[in-house]
Amino acid sequence: MSGWSASLQLLLLPHEDISGDNFDDDRRSVCGSTGGGGLKCVSGEGSVGSVQASMLKRLVEVVGSKSRIATNEVSQILSAVDEVTREELGVQESQYHGRLDLEMRKLITFLNITEQENYSLGIFVMPPNTTIPLHDHPGMTVFTKVLWGELEVEAYDIVAKRQGDNDEYVALKRGTSVTRDNEVRYLTKDNGNIHQFHAKRWTAVFDLAVPPYDPWNGRPCNYFRVLGDATTENGTGETDSVIMETRDCPDEYRTTRGIYTGTSVD
Ligand SMILES: [Fe+2]
Repeated sequence: MSGWSASLQLLLLPHEDISGDNFDDDRRSVCGSTGGGGLKCVSGEGSVGSVQASMLKRLVEVVGSKSRIATNEVSQILSAVDEVTREELGVQESQYHGRLDLEMRKLITFLNITEQENYSLGIFVMPPNTTIPLHDHPGMTVFTKVLWGELEVEAYDIVAKRQGDNDEYVALKRGTSVTRDNEVRYLTKDNGNIHQFHAKRWTAVFDLAVPPYDPWNGRPCNYFRVLGDATTENGTGETDSVIMETRDCPDEYRTTRGIYTGTSVD
């Protein structure tokens, strides 16, 4: 990891967490960087068995030096993400089912694959009934593949600031959906950019963000809380908007950092 990315990681990992087994000493809470608010999904076969070529390295080649993803580039990257397998990433469900420490069985594990100036790659492993709280990806395009498990995604987009209050917004509901094994989805800067992930069972989520979080360049991770439906305010009977406000990273959102053991791209 470069010095630049190391310092960025520290800024994005605000909380110390508790210790556990089989993990390195760099344990902190992670600002959720997983994607998945986008409405378009593709479903892959999920290769099983030996990996003939590195699909992860191919993905990195496809992303190249792009720091923004144009609309006409999305399908190519979706396909490349779809090709990446859990075997190549070295993330097996049985590794986590075997955790004996009860606290570790409740912690979301983040595996950093690489963090470059124009993109980041990582994996979140979520125990059953854990949640990555509502957060945004300012100006980013994020591709997400559920390697295994079942992920409920709730997504929104801010459409207006509430008058007279700088911390409250009107946000359009993008709906709640369930993403399962080998499904790939994405979000953009204005489609599903704010989202929450809830793992219904043990779930591993592979994540590509272009560009990555960078608070020094207008891309901090912001957390939100839904205050209620916007319908009663405008009196139109609409049910597609909510009022939300920014908030600090929830105390209950705690993660640990694991050691990535899959194919290296550095
Ligand atoms: Fe996210």
